[in-house]
Amino acid sequence: MNVSFKTSLLKEHSADVVAVFVHQDEATFSKEIAALARKMAVRITAAEIGDFKGKENESCVVYAQQGKRTRRFLVVGLGERKKSSLERYRRAAATAAKRAKSLKAKTLAIFVPGTVRPFGQTVQALTEGALLSLYKFDKYISKKEENSVSVESLTIVTEGRTKLNEGRASVEKARIISEATALARDLGNAPGNEIYPQTLADAARQSAERSGYRATILDEQEINDLGMGGVIGVSRGSAHPPRFIILEYGPSSKRPVVLVGKGVTFDSGGISIKPSAGMAEMKMDMSGAAAVIGTFEAVARLKLPVHVVGLIPAVENLPSGNAIRPGDILRHYNGKTSEVDNTDAEGRLILADALGYAETFKPQAVIDLATLTGAVVVALGHHATGMMGNDPSLMKQLKSAGGATYERVWQLPLFEEYEKQIKSDIADVKNTGGRWAGSITGGLFLKRFIGNYKWVHLDIAGTAMLEENGDYTFKGASGVGVRLLTEFLRRWK
Ligand code: BES
Ligand code: MN
Ligand code: ZN
Repeated sequence: MNVSFKTSLLKEHSADVVAVFVHQDEATFSKEIAALARKMAVRITAAEIGDFKGKENESCVVYAQQGKRTRRFLVVGLGERKKSSLERYRRAAATAAKRAKSLKAKTLAIFVPGTVRPFGQTVQALTEGALLSLYKFDKYISKKEENSVSVESLTIVTEGRTKLNEGRASVEKARIISEATALARDLGNAPGNEIYPQTLADAARQSAERSGYRATILDEQEINDLGMGGVIGVSRGSAHPPRFIILEYGPSSKRPVVLVGKGVTFDSGGISIKPSAGMAEMKMDMSGAAAVIGTFEAVARLKLPVHVVGLIPAVENLPSGNAIRPGDILRHYNGKTSEVDNTDAEGRLILADALGYAETFKPQAVIDLATLTGAVVVALGHHATGMMGNDPSLMKQLKSAGGATYERVWQLPLFEEYEKQIKSDIADVKNTGGRWAGSITGGLFLKRFIGNYKWVHLDIAGTAMLEENGDYTFKGASGVGVRLLTEFLRRWK
């Protein structure tokens, strides 16, 4: 996809489809339409507009004669002006892009008035909305949709040359972030027979080479020598050996922010096997890892002035004669032991090692992302990530980055009263906490393994794996976390 920013007059764009936005407000709607018609040097009549009112995500194609050419303009609703937000622009651009695609347009221009504030962020939101909505995972479909034409070139256009540099920079930012999100989506959507620990590590290494950051891959022997009993234990049932992926970007003179991603490339549950209905979704149980790799791709290409370390324990959780069993006791990196009450609570077992290891980097902050519990989907559905942690100010920063990107997070408490649910009689801690507050007991388990640092745990089980399409998201892997963390790190001091 070719993306660019240009300044020129609205009537001069030659794209197959030119999209323009209007608000739905009673008082201004017809004036906005009249102003557009003037700018496009065409006549738009009430008949052409029909029932279109400018409501959120409503769109209407206007065929207009411009000299000798018949032009297609797409008028897209933004809803009420007083409810305007960056998310509205993302969605409106997604509506425009998907409509342009169904009109078989190869080139799309999206017009943004130079008066919109904040200009740069709006341009970025529009570009991201359009690019993310054109994502598809069709690499395994041999016969692509009957004469499907996809938008090949997107131009964001404004009138007035003063905005050129800001517009170009914003489009470029959006392109990088959307591509990084698409990478995370591709990794999540890829089947378990393609993405297993070694190939996940290969993908991280390729991203590192492409984008300019460092990647180190530890093999089973090295993982074992470090004393990571959780990673070794969970991977025992699989023919694929584990990998421990270490990413690093930025100057080591600064203490790093460490990002930890759960990399279970397929979670069958192990000996505590899951029911077969829906088990296929568990190919996305490495979405935390995908978010970390995607974030590194974005942060490195954006050249953000931060030092970041990424830690990904990568395993496949399968049952076999070598698999760990309920009742087994594992010893983790920091020396603490855990009782494996249920082999399906495997994420916390591998994260325990990674969180302990994070301490060796003397981090300023550690953020882990994991599709950790079904319980978080029960609590928050697919519209918010469950957030737990030990530092209110770090959580506040994530909440704010979540609002800006619309990858929203919502805090759950780590009250000490829940602790007794994960008490073990025979080890330091038990990997299950019973029926109630499953996401919290998952978070409390992790808390036992953190070092002396500020920490936030993001349970993305609901937000990373989607059951239906959204405005610019699709059923399957959402790539959640990439935009959130990139924005968080962009603001990081
Ligand atoms: N990967 C799953 C969590 C999950 C469930 C993600 C549904 C997305 C959708 C995790 O490894 C798991 O199986 N968790 C168990 C924990 C339980 C055994 C304590 C769960 O949530 O049931
Ligand atoms: Mn599991
Ligand atoms: Zn899992």
